[in-house]
Amino acid sequence: MPRQIDYSENIPNNVDLASDRRLRRALENWQPRFADWWSEMGPVGFQDKEVYLRTAVDVGQQGWAHFSHVKLPDYRWGIFLSERDPSRRIGFGELKGQPVWQEIPGEFRTELRRLIVVQGDTEPASVEQQRYLGRTAPSLYDLRNLFQINVEEGRHLWAMVYLLHAYFGRDGRDEADALLERHSGDPDHPRILGAFNEKTSDWLSFLLFTYFTDRDGKYQLGALKESAFDPLSRTCDFMLKEEAHHMFVGAAGLGRVVQRTCEVMNQYDTDDVRPYGVIDLPTLQKYINFHFSVSLDLFGSETSTNAANYYSAGLKGRFAEAAYSDDHVLVDHEESISEIVDGHWSERSRPAITVVNEQLRRSYIDDCAKGMRRWNRILDEYGIDQQLGLPHEAFHRQVGIHRGQFVTPQGEIVNEAKWTELLPRLLPTEADREYVTSLMRPVYEPGHMADWIAPPVTGINTQPVDYQYVRL
Ligand SMILES: [Fe+2]
Ligand SMILES: [Fe+2]
Repeated sequence: MPRQIDYSENIPNNVDLASDRRLRRALENWQPRFADWWSEMGPVGFQDKEVYLRTAVDVGQQGWAHFSHVKLPDYRWGIFLSERDPSRRIGFGELKGQPVWQEIPGEFRTELRRLIVVQGDTEPASVEQQRYLGRTAPSLYDLRNLFQINVEEGRHLWAMVYLLHAYFGRDGRDEADALLERHSGDPDHPRILGAFNEKTSDWLSFLLFTYFTDRDGKYQLGALKESAFDPLSRTCDFMLKEEAHHMFVGAAGLGRVVQRTCEVMNQYDTDDVRPYGVIDLPTLQKYINFHFSVSLDLFGSETSTNAANYYSAGLKGRFAEAAYSDDHVLVDHEESISEIVDGHWSERSRPAITVVNEQLRRSYIDDCAKGMRRWNRILDEYGIDQQLGLPHEAFHRQVGIHRGQFVTPQGEIVNEAKWTELLPRLLPTEADREYVTSLMRPVYEPGHMADWIAPPVTGINTQPVDYQYVRL
């Protein structure tokens, strides 16, 4: 398998597509549908502008990306898998220790297809959710980051479509078509997962989406990277390299929001910063509460026989599976989870294999907490005696054992009346969203920033912050 990516091909790839004519033709058939989807459902405007984008040129550790100005529709979407490790073995489940699979065992075909479709569905969904944001970008630097994320989510769709075409025959091709037919928020053909049908209509939501929801992607891809189906594992491994930048955009971007808010709080010696056109901390906290809770839902139910089946079959593991010190089979283990029983919190022991979703969610929560610490350090540096926090994991959940329960961000169980009364202080209200939207005005001069966000510390790929990241 050639490691170098072949850009002389119509579809850039490192899977030797040239030698598989049937597969190449099937993908070349899908390619114009993808192009149509991109022009109809991708970024609104800017399609004829040159954007400073990175393109994958190698899948190795060093120097896998190349930066240049390209028009969005000219971005070279392609199929890139990390290198194969011929000694790789299954790391968990009933078949632990056996060699990984290069083809799909018939008995796991349906489950694997489902996992790939669900992952694949999220990729174009986020592009659809973000399609209007270019109109209100706070800087050219941010505009470029948005488009970088959009083209890479498009590439992640390619990654999943490749697997569907290459390994699932006719029904794989149908699923690949369907990935372009469902649309975010479409009442008749919605995307599969709830968070991917929410609107991302302002840049604060976008930064929180990249922080919390792209991070869910990191954990899902990390769990699929453990898969016994080796092509899926290698696909996810390379997607994770691209995904890191998406989460950087969220973590660094929110740091810039906090910094700007602190500057204004100190300058005017007030918490009431809305008259000065920046985002007040209570509003930011409500946005955090919303995006964190909808992202937690993406991990599925706390106890799940599907997840247990995926795990025991070796289809989907836990994040960094090898780092767990248990036996990686989990049939003889118990794991405790917190549940509400008769109106009180109680710890319940469950067979470990049924709570792998919850274990994945816990790794994710720990990771999310790092950003909060980083933003709280900024508050400390400015001498501001307030902190941001992650809400309790049972807060505002639509999926799993906490669905329909009324739990405050502090973990207090309340009744519905109390919940309704508290709600405007816990989640963004219409008025909050209107205020945030009112701040969203485009800033397109190089190096200039919207008032509500501080400039980044450095530019992209050693370019200065005032670089012409998008040629308008
Ligand atoms: Fe992605
Ligand atoms: Fe992403």
